[in-house]
Amino acid sequence: MARLTIPELKSRKGPGSLVMLTAYDYPTAKLAAEAGVDVLLVGDSLGMVVLGYESTVPVTLEEMLHHTKAARRGAPDVHLVADLPYLADATPERALAAAGRLVKEGGADSVKLEGAKLEVVRALVGAGVPVLGHVGLTPQTASSLGGYKVQGRNVAAAKQLLEDALALEEAGVWGVVLEMVPAQLADLISQELSVPTIGIGAGGGTDGQVLVFHDLIGVFDRFKPRFVKRYLEGGELIRQAIANYVGDVRGGRFPEEEHSYQMDAEELEGLYGRD
Ligand code: KIV
Repeated sequence: MARLTIPELKSRKGPGSLVMLTAYDYPTAKLAAEAGVDVLLVGDSLGMVVLGYESTVPVTLEEMLHHTKAARRGAPDVHLVADLPYLADATPERALAAAGRLVKEGGADSVKLEGAKLEVVRALVGAGVPVLGHVGLTPQTASSLGGYKVQGRNVAAAKQLLEDALALEEAGVWGVVLEMVPAQLADLISQELSVPTIGIGAGGGTDGQVLVFHDLIGVFDRFKPRFVKRYLEGGELIRQAIANYVGDVRGGRFPEEEHSYQMDAEELEGLYGRD
């Protein structure tokens, strides 16, 4: 499979057309690629699910680069999107510098940024950097939005979200992530846009879906939003596996013969026979 190009991504319209998953490291990216994911996202959610920060705000560009490089090594043939971390998109100049590093050093194919920062999107796209938009609940500014809450529930807020998504399309994004918006509004935005929408907590009518890997495998347990479907109770399985290891070591059941290396009898003789 070759990496999806921007025209190919733009043509993915209709529910079920695009599957995106976060990946922040080599083995996850490799497994996701083998499982047939279309697009991998090195989301700044890594700050919460991997680095243990309270929010995505503390994530640095260096941390994004570190994880983007690892994900790229695991999935050389999958379109890779990297998030611009908090304030790296505050001005077109800063965004160009940060995106340049994520693409040139990190190996990303696109960058994603939160909100309707149209001037920044135009600068990036104009410089040849493909951009994925992100509206609705934008975690970097969640506190200004009143916390992790569904967005666009009333007419005014819904109209604003539709306008923002249309403006992002006009500015040149190849797609728009819709996070935590009512399904009916996500359907309307998906119909109005000619580029794909990728939903997370936006119902089944968006063109694509995205989940955070650690939510999907059940290893992030600080909170579980309604939109998360766990395909594995990984936290429980991993904890049990580690507890088995602890028990085996303490009980003398690990390592066994099959996990050990042996010396030739002759060499052993020499070793014991030394003076
Ligand atoms: O950071 C992230 O993982 C994201 C997704 C939730 C869309 O932005």
